[in-house]
Amino acid sequence: MGDSISKENSRDPRQLRSNRWFGPDDLRSFGHRSRFKGMGFDDADYQGKPIVALLNTWSDLNTCHSHFKQRVDEIKRGILQAGGFPVEVPVMSLGEMLMKPTTMLYRNLLAMETEEVLRCHPIDAAVLMGGCDKTVPALIMGAISADIPSIFFPAGPMLKARWRDQTLGSGTDAWKYWAERCAGNLCDSDWKDIENCIGRSAGTCMTMGTASTMACIAESLGLTLPGASSIPAVVAEHSRLAVATGRRAVELAWLNITPRSVLSRASFENAMATQLSISGSTNAIVHMIAMAGRAGIKLTLDDYDAMSERVPVLADIRPSGQYLMEDFHHAGGLSGLLSRLKDVLHLACKTVNETTLGEQIEAGEVIDDKVIRTRDNPLWATGGTCVLRGNLAPNGCVIKTVAADLRLQKHTGPAMVFDNYADMKKRINAPDLDITEDTVIVLRSAGPIGAPGFPEWGMLPIPEKLLKQGVRDMVRISDARMSGTSYGTCILHVSPESHIGGPLAFVENGDLIALDVAKRSLMLLVDEATLAKRRETWVRPTTAWTRGYHRIFADHVTQAHDGCDFDFLHGHSSNQEPDIF
Ligand code: FES
Repeated sequence: MGDSISKENSRDPRQLRSNRWFGPDDLRSFGHRSRFKGMGFDDADYQGKPIVALLNTWSDLNTCHSHFKQRVDEIKRGILQAGGFPVEVPVMSLGEMLMKPTTMLYRNLLAMETEEVLRCHPIDAAVLMGGCDKTVPALIMGAISADIPSIFFPAGPMLKARWRDQTLGSGTDAWKYWAERCAGNLCDSDWKDIENCIGRSAGTCMTMGTASTMACIAESLGLTLPGASSIPAVVAEHSRLAVATGRRAVELAWLNITPRSVLSRASFENAMATQLSISGSTNAIVHMIAMAGRAGIKLTLDDYDAMSERVPVLADIRPSGQYLMEDFHHAGGLSGLLSRLKDVLHLACKTVNETTLGEQIEAGEVIDDKVIRTRDNPLWATGGTCVLRGNLAPNGCVIKTVAADLRLQKHTGPAMVFDNYADMKKRINAPDLDITEDTVIVLRSAGPIGAPGFPEWGMLPIPEKLLKQGVRDMVRISDARMSGTSYGTCILHVSPESHIGGPLAFVENGDLIALDVAKRSLMLLVDEATLAKRRETWVRPTTAWTRGYHRIFADHVTQAHDGCDFDFLHGHSSNQEPDIF
């Protein structure tokens, strides 16, 4: 990281974007300066200095970002130390826990807001303050499109939770103990105790859920300070990260290091390798495709699957493994892990720190081989997450193999179909449901358009009557996503989705479905003539999405294999502010 800025690379203050607002001797600029003075800012506060925006996704309804109120002040301290002028700009907060139907519905809205907020204001650089799942890709997508110097500041994971002698991870252990409660193995007071302690501090989910996965991806893309992705949210090191990130943002403004000047196809290949090696959330596949699309880079599920053939799972973190993000941090974090994967990485990729990724991980060290495994003792050799294809998913679907029951990875069983989430909720626990552990549960109308919004319903519930018999995993298929904290033999992101006539729409109860992970195959064993007849009589479900943002979403969202960005937001545009005055 550059502690000082070399004169020959640094811009002149007159080249700063903000100078276009504050520099000219005209009426419009007079208005800008005089109103800043009305806020109590004198010329000496900001003139000739980079104006650094803190895009803050804090909200009282975002349970993972409650410490951002303090971190904002710390980032501002760093900006002031480095001679910049900080401005806090609130943007939409996507708190995973409280938003319905799903934050994914709003990822593109935050991405659009980010792009436009950066474009229309006198901003020379930005600190992107995110963490909870969709805030990470959304902020990065918007920053790539605006292409204004930006650095990502991750919220950091919660501290590990304890219940009796058990270490608990949010999400993952909630699912696990809920299954035990449904099976009649956990009393009400134990369940209440778990509720009281599973969210131990501010911060994001402390498993390798979507938030931690995306933070690692942001670091591997070179968009954070080194080591940023795993620092727990509430420790002093995280405060120091905030101050240092503020300082660095000022340097980025002087050097005009923009996201597109850092990112390349090779850096997205590093991101895919990172996601696979940490056994990260399957959601990240969708987000990586969308982020790359903003940079004009076409990533495909085939690219991902080819990488999956080469990359072992080294991080032993829940839900695939045993440990939690705090352990990962103390074991060496992402630099430690990537130092064991140099042969599959493009080490020459640039970062916002004026170092290459290779230089950034050079000092990486693994302290604990139990948490970050060695190459000859991986958690999973290769293919920890796979892409499947077949007549049930012509455009692909994904399975997190490492978090699924080995026994089920080659399985043929009869389908039990639920038309939508309400249908599943109503019938799944009926005592007379004709279902066995060999059944393949199918949920449709759960994709980007059908659900709506592509919710995390993909870890379809095991029927209570089977839970009571001791069943804990079954083959489950949907066009939904699942939480990064979830697990099981869940086949996700089936594309095209059923709502637009994808093959899931034509499955009937009792049809045989064959899964063969080794062959990357998912087949509906129904002859083509029968399927053709079903297609002829199929009626597309109606949608209530007739107005506002929902209508834009329904009309323009792409399918899972294309990243679910809006079709009109691929690529980028000029970062020139509209200048009509
Ligand atoms: Fe925010 Fe999991 S709920 S990261």
